[in-house]
Amino acid sequence: GLGAGVIAGICIGVLVALLLISFVIYYAYRKNKKQDSHSSSIPLSAKVDQGKFSSLQSGDLVGTGVAPGLAAISVDKSVEFTLEELAKATDNFNLSFKIGQGGFGAVYYAELRGEKAAIKKMDMEASKQFLAELKVLTRVHHVNLVRLIGYCVEGSLFLIYEYVENGNLGQHLHGSGREPLPWIKRVHIALDSARGLEYIHEHTVPVYVHRDIKSANILIDQSFRAKVADFGLTKLTEVGSSATRGAMGTFGYMAPEIVYGEVSAKVDVYAFGVVLYELISAKAAVVKMNQASGEFRGLVGVFEEVFKEADKEEALRKIIDPRLGDNYPFDSVYKMAELGKACTQENAQLRPSMRYIVVALSTLISSTGNWDVGNFQNDDIVSLMSGR
Ligand SMILES: Nc1ncnc2c1ncn2[C@@H]1O[C@H](COP(=O)(O)OP(=O)(O)OP(=O)(O)O)[C@@H](O)[C@H]1O
Ligand SMILES: [Mg+2]
Repeated sequence: GLGAGVIAGICIGVLVALLLISFVIYYAYRKNKKQDSHSSSIPLSAKVDQGKFSSLQSGDLVGTGVAPGLAAISVDKSVEFTLEELAKATDNFNLSFKIGQGGFGAVYYAELRGEKAAIKKMDMEASKQFLAELKVLTRVHHVNLVRLIGYCVEGSLFLIYEYVENGNLGQHLHGSGREPLPWIKRVHIALDSARGLEYIHEHTVPVYVHRDIKSANILIDQSFRAKVADFGLTKLTEVGSSATRGAMGTFGYMAPEIVYGEVSAKVDVYAFGVVLYELISAKAAVVKMNQASGEFRGLVGVFEEVFKEADKEEALRKIIDPRLGDNYPFDSVYKMAELGKACTQENAQLRPSMRYIVVALSTLISSTGNWDVGNFQNDDIVSLMSGR
């Protein structure tokens, strides 16, 4: 028969095997449970929140390119405002609330439903098609895009945007009474704007061409991150013909092919190139060459001259924003100028895509960051790592 030792051995073996199996089962069960609670956390909170958004129909979300659960969280209020609500918040559109005037109309500051907002009273008329479009526009969300909170169509068309605290890029570059922007901040602003544009060019449904990219339409927030404003407005119909600009774009930023009515995402790339030149030189898109003759030149032409010089580097140094002093890594500035040149090529097809530009500027930031240790904040490291 079997020895007692062998029997004991078998018993121990079986016991160990049983123990092992139960451990495996236990861990598998625990892991499953963890995953369950993890994956259910988003839908759960969405379900809870959805109760508040009874007006939201599932059909509303079609074509927004947003996951239904997530969209339900953000669309928590009606996007329609009454004129009464707007008038109350601005003391009847009192001039003391006016913060700006653009080609489309006046802009007022207001606090609406507990949120700081900029109300645009449009001189334009909205077509039926545009009104439908507005709903879609309120669902385009990206950190580098000024969010359309809602609208009002009583009397005139009013557009209500999130308020961006720190003025527009043009004011920072050309305005008086502001600190000069350090170079690293300029590169960040370029990258932020590029990301906003890349998003509307490639990731929204439908995709948009902005058609009015310029430094006045790049807003700066408190932490000096940039947001692109006013996308999607070019589908408005102008009232009367007083406007010299508007739906067409702004002089100095317009790609040559616009004259022939050829509009593609590459017209934004061209205008973005002009903004890059502005960041470098702090000159306006249209430059007054000398006071006496009143001769004007486009900034693109000014930079083209630079690239024609025998000593390009020396020529570039001459038009770098004097307010930067010597506090810039020349290599980084030169690369940005080259990117500007690529963007403003006459042949639209040769211009890079915004996606390519985002990559190029990210690379530029990592090299600039190493140079500019003084201005390099923890923030920048985090944003680099996260690709934000
Ligand atoms: N959401 C906002 N938050 C804070 N300020 C804003 C906001 N929107 C616009 N502004 C300010 O109001 C000014 C006027 O804006 P508006 O968009 O009407 O004109 P513009 O940008 O100069 O030209 P365009 O009509 O081509 O957009 C802007 O220059 C900006 O400084
Ligand atoms: Mg604007």
